[in-house]
Amino acid sequence: MSRELYAGLMSGTSLDGVDAVMVDLAAPKPRPLGHAYRAFEPALRAELLALNAGAHGELERAALCANELARTYAGAIADLLAAAPADCRELQAIGCHGQTVRHRPEDGYTVQIGNAALLAELTRTRVVADFRSRDVAAGGQGAPLAPAFHAVMFANDTEDRVVLNLGGMANISWLPARGSVAGFDTGPGNCLMDLWAQRHLGWPQDENGAWAAGARADAALLETLLAEPYFSLPPPKSTGRGLFNAAWLERKLPSAADPQVVQATLLELTALSVARAMRGHFRGARRLIVCGGGVRNRALTARLEALLAPVPVDSSDRHGIEPTQVEAAAFAWLAQQAVRGKPGNLPAVTGARGARVLGAIYPA
Ligand SMILES: Nc1ncnc2c1ncn2[C@@H]1O[C@H](COP(=O)(O)OP(=O)(O)O)[C@@H](O)[C@H]1O
Ligand SMILES: [Mg+2]
Repeated sequence: MSRELYAGLMSGTSLDGVDAVMVDLAAPKPRPLGHAYRAFEPALRAELLALNAGAHGELERAALCANELARTYAGAIADLLAAAPADCRELQAIGCHGQTVRHRPEDGYTVQIGNAALLAELTRTRVVADFRSRDVAAGGQGAPLAPAFHAVMFANDTEDRVVLNLGGMANISWLPARGSVAGFDTGPGNCLMDLWAQRHLGWPQDENGAWAAGARADAALLETLLAEPYFSLPPPKSTGRGLFNAAWLERKLPSAADPQVVQATLLELTALSVARAMRGHFRGARRLIVCGGGVRNRALTARLEALLAPVPVDSSDRHGIEPTQVEAAAFAWLAQQAVRGKPGNLPAVTGARGARVLGAIYPA
């Protein structure tokens, strides 16, 4: 059987590192074949975080950072290929999301850095990058882009499903048995919990959500956080670190807040904003499939299960792909769409004027 191998590179708002996934896209249903992950060096992570806010000299810093990202991405691709069977080393293309450092669709732009030319040079492989700009140029949010792939991977013709990606931000996709796909960013996923765990525990994340699980959410604080207008905006909508960041959280916190109670409240904020988005927009959902690193936060998924019962909550691995591989696989699939000259966006999701072929192609 012939194969059509693509690699996807996804480094999301969590700024944890990059996931590289190899997918066979010869058949209509994508088949994941391998996964490699490279954590970002602390200096690279710090620079990316700094570039999310404006600063003097940022053009040069962004260019240098984009080079460092390309080297990290090339390393992840090398790991992926080294672990692949000998007959799985010929990639058609690499779909590279890049690192979002600014997302302002309302001002007509979104910026994902990562030097795609350098990545093509280092890997000697065709690279597809800058997937979001064309959708924004067509009046869309440029996000989320994963729903089209979620549909290819997880749609079922007898069951209305929702897919939830718990990355730094959280986004949901509506996959009805009949009818059209919808979706939007619900708000923060892990990013606020991550920053709070880093600040108070010195850990990269609240391991399995154990710290949050040891306290009860503060109802008044939760209400203050949920009053953020983003949560009640109608879709299409997308968000990022430009809104949900440390300054946002600090503005809402009372002066003497118990850090662990705040963590429990942040977990509740993520769970509740997802549950409300589902109830408000996708009431008919019969199953929720979750992916993204947040699936490993057991306290969070347990809370989601409780809020959504009796709707079952499945990890994506029950549906053929590991949770940490889904978003990278989506960019492998989007790369194939670009190479074939097919659209990658769903106008009903992003709000773009029409379907567009997404991405810029850098030949091998
Ligand atoms: N064992 C764990 N316990 C709690 N949270 C985890 C765990 N493993 C991963 N995560 C969360 O998942 C995040 C990474 O998820 P990922 O899907 O890569 O997000 P992004 O696409 O934004 O990079 C981490 O920042 C962390 O919040
Ligand atoms: Mg990540």
